[in-house]
Amino acid sequence: MQIIAEVAQLRTTVSDWRRAGLKIAFVPTMGNLHAGHFKLVDEAKKHADKVIVSIFVNPMQFGPTEDLAKYPRTLTADCEGLTAHQADLVFTPTPELMYPRGLESQTAVEVPKVGDLHCGASRPGHFRGVATIVSKLFNLVQPDVALFGKKDYQQLAVIRRFTEDLSFGIDIVGVDTERAADGLALSSRNGFLTPEQRATAPLIYQQLQWLQQQIIDGFADFRALEQQVATTLQQAGFRPDYVHICDRQSLDLADSNQTPLVILLAAFLGSTRLIDNLEV
Ligand code: PAJ
Repeated sequence: MQIIAEVAQLRTTVSDWRRAGLKIAFVPTMGNLHAGHFKLVDEAKKHADKVIVSIFVNPMQFGPTEDLAKYPRTLTADCEGLTAHQADLVFTPTPELMYPRGLESQTAVEVPKVGDLHCGASRPGHFRGVATIVSKLFNLVQPDVALFGKKDYQQLAVIRRFTEDLSFGIDIVGVDTERAADGLALSSRNGFLTPEQRATAPLIYQQLQWLQQQIIDGFADFRALEQQVATTLQQAGFRPDYVHICDRQSLDLADSNQTPLVILLAAFLGSTRLIDNLEV
């Protein structure tokens, strides 16, 4: 597996592969890779001849009070894992390479509406940072297909939207969430949980499943159901950010059993913000 940190070298390799008629799949990440990330890499191999993974902790998508500095950086272990999963190239740029003029002067990609709701409302500027870095990476890697986890459901919707709106011509593939045996969605942030918090965390997925069943059973007052889940989480020691039953396409709040639906949820456990979702 090649490890490349320079743009010129990346472009040369990519254009060699393109000239050879090879199909390229791309998996952007922030590193600290776990089985969820490797699932994307394995899936990527099914879609293309070459798999490129990027590892870049993107400062533009972190808010001023968020965990940029303490975000786990585990490049050696990540590269070992990627070699085992037969990635062909890992791109590891520095912040200076990606944002040479600094974040203040950086041209940005804004995704209105779908990027303003839910996590977009709680984390102003987050999806602007995601859309900007993924656009830059798309232009550098020029993949045929790019893979993203459904774990970050709204992020996937934002990426689908700007890929279409800006005519990138890249196929976006969503991959199902990889979970621990107790149902907790795998996330780099799970490492921040204390043992007690880790034992409490699976309640998120249990509550999503409960809510899914209520909807299937025909309970129509979605706002009351959302409130009930928020209260249950709060009583268990979470600080719920939002519980939203949404239209799967627009991600607007749904107020009747319009299908297809998705339940989006974010909650703090201590200072760690966990997100999860479940399609109904
Ligand atoms: P990161 O959190 O590292 O996630 C990289 C990719 O892995 C994303 O597409 C995410 O949805 C997926 N992923 C994370 N946990 C997963 C799980 N348990 N099951 C399946 N897929 C999972 O998301 C980002 O990085 C960044 O915002 C990025 C898109 C790289 C832009 O900086």
